[in-house]
Amino acid sequence: MKPRILITEPIYNEILEYLQPFAELDIEERGKCKDASYLKSIIGNYDAVISMLSNPVNEEVLQAGEKLKIVANYAVGYDNIDVEAATKLGIKVANTPDVLTDATADIAMALLLAVTRKICEAQHYLREDHFKGWEPLGFLGMGLNGKTMGIIGMGRIGQAVARRAKGFGVQILYHNRNKLEASVEGELNARFTEDIEALVKQSDVLSLNCPLTPETRHLIDANMLKVMPKHAVLINTARGPVVDEEALAEALINGEIGGAGLDVFEKEPAVHPKLLEAPNCVLLPHMGSATIEARMQMGHLAADAILGILNGKPEHEIPNLLN
Ligand code: DGY
Repeated sequence: MKPRILITEPIYNEILEYLQPFAELDIEERGKCKDASYLKSIIGNYDAVISMLSNPVNEEVLQAGEKLKIVANYAVGYDNIDVEAATKLGIKVANTPDVLTDATADIAMALLLAVTRKICEAQHYLREDHFKGWEPLGFLGMGLNGKTMGIIGMGRIGQAVARRAKGFGVQILYHNRNKLEASVEGELNARFTEDIEALVKQSDVLSLNCPLTPETRHLIDANMLKVMPKHAVLINTARGPVVDEEALAEALINGEIGGAGLDVFEKEPAVHPKLLEAPNCVLLPHMGSATIEARMQMGHLAADAILGILNGKPEHEIPNLLN
């Protein structure tokens, strides 16, 4: 009998066709598996799952996966999965690193340019027929050349953001669990600091590229926002709860910071109502990895991890396993 795989949301057909010869596939309706009790009620039927970052794969859900061998998250972040519980239960967990690095770094830069150059307001102004010709004082933004970008989280995506920012003449100050090798720092024009507050104080642009962990939850809170220079712009393409959204909205409304570009939110898909009203704020629907190329490769990485585990491939030959 073929193994059964649950795919919690529709993904590229090519990935389904790739898996079909080896397994029975069930593709869940979009959004249904956001509900932990629903996921728990069906997971017992499956040998493997391709999960989305919006699916709470918690301890209870994993315990209900009686024959579950692997959960492959269709994302690089895996804060939605209790990896410790999975490890205890002998369930493997995989993610999709590397293949979405460029796509996510591109979105960080897109947000940065959109905020600093007022792209969204300007387009709105034009479409609303307010454009009456070139204005010497119209839509003045902040230039990036010579500015400092603080990056919190200098993994693959943080480094890709730094590489792009360097092309705009930006200097990088970064905080990371580990200091990068001197040659990489040199290549990225990046300086390390252990002191996050000092980094925030010196940054014209602050880019969040760290995972969500107990240490990073609300790392950017009201106090940290007060430390940011008045003109500074916050970019978050990491995870929503790294920022206290209520405090951010207040800081924008009170003009305590210059602007914000957010691809992620504390309680997705909800967006804090004050953020929707806040000035100088560009909001995107968590689309960092949304390129055709990235999503296709994410599918292949997830599928290959599953096939590897189900076929007894040596674990060291499955590079994206987390446990
Ligand atoms: C991920 O894969 O974790 C990213 O949030 C996608 O944008």
